[in-house]
Formats: sequence, C-alpha cells, structure tokens
Amino acid sequence: MLEVGCGAGALAVLAAGIASSVVAADVSAEAIQNTTLNIAWHKAQNVEVVESDLFEHIHGVFDTIVFNAPFFPGRASSAKERMWLGDNGRILERFLRDAPSHLAPDGEIWLTHSSVADESSFRAALDGAGWSWTVMDSRDILIETFKLYRAVRHVDAAEGGRG
Ligand SMILES: C[S@@+](CC[C@H](N)C(=O)[O-])C[C@H]1O[C@@H](n2cnc3c(N)ncnc32)[C@H](O)[C@@H]1O
Repeated sequence: MLEVGCGAGALAVLAAGIASSVVAADVSAEAIQNTTLNIAWHKAQNVEVVESDLFEHIHGVFDTIVFNAPFFPGRASSAKERMWLGDNGRILERFLRDAPSHLAPDGEIWLTHSSVADESSFRAALDGAGWSWTVMDSRDILIETFKLYRAVRHVDAAEGGRG
C-alpha cells in the first residue's frame, strides 16, 4: 500500500498491520519526521517513509493507494496550509493523472472529500480521468458530510501500450 500525504502517519501505522508493506509519503519534511517517529513508536517494521511531492520520489506499483487529500479551495503558502488547501483542486487532479502509473493491475485508490469543499468538481475530475468510483462510507461531522471514495481505473489496450 502507498499512502500519499501521510501527515503524522496514523493511517500508515494502521495499514502496517494489514498490508504486507507500506510506503508513507508526504511533501512536508515535518510530516515525514512525525511519521518516522510514529512508525518507530508503534514498532511497524514494514513501513518505508519517503519525502515526495505526490509521486515524484515514488518507485514501483501498489495494490492500494490512499490519499486523505487537502481538498479545500485556495493555494497553500506554507507547509501548514498544505494540510487542507489543495491548490484549487490541482493537487487532486495531478494525483488522479499520475496514480495509474503506480497502480498494479486491478489496483484501487481511496480518497476523501467533503460536502463543504468542491465535491462536484472532484467527481467530474474522477470521471474525466476515467475512474469508476463508489462512496464507501460517509460521516456527518458538524457542518459537513465527510466521504470516503474508492476508485478503480480500467486501462484500455491502447493506453496500456504506452508503457
Ligand atoms: C488532510 S492532511 C492528511 C494527513 C493524514 N494522512 C491524515 O489522514 O491524518 C493532507 C496531507 O497531505 C500532504 N500534502 C499536501 N500536498 C502534498 C503533495 N503535493 N504531495 C504529498 N503530500 C502532500 C500534507 O502535507 C498533509 O500531511
């Protein structure tokens, strides 16, 4: 499993008990430090931690890629703001564009989104990039409905041929 945007590493620690191996990645050096500490604290030995802007330093393919993405509109001007501001949807668009080349055949991506962000553009981006998606879970939290999306992408023969 690959977790993009691992933050403090909570999901990566949980996933370590389920997946055979986990890569936890984040663009923030502070997040990488936090994840590294939490991995050690929880004695998770099957987690590799990588500082990376999305897939920039990620090698290999994964059965599952998860991203609790920064989906709120606006452009981040600090590492702290990168936790929730997703460059006006560009972060998720880049993720959806690049994820297929790191996904095993029949692999899946898991993403979060919220009713108080631009969820309809997110769904359009999924559709536009050829993903078939399902909402697996949703929770009402104060003013928002927080949703968990699972998406798969079936590569056609012509696309597969591009290598
Ligand atoms: C909403 S937080 C999620 C943190 C953690 N995964 C969790 O669920 O608690 C979003 C994370 O994505 C990271 N992030 C933002 N832009 C990124 C990028 N371009 N590449 C990798 N990680 C990014 C942020 O640093 C932050 O840790």
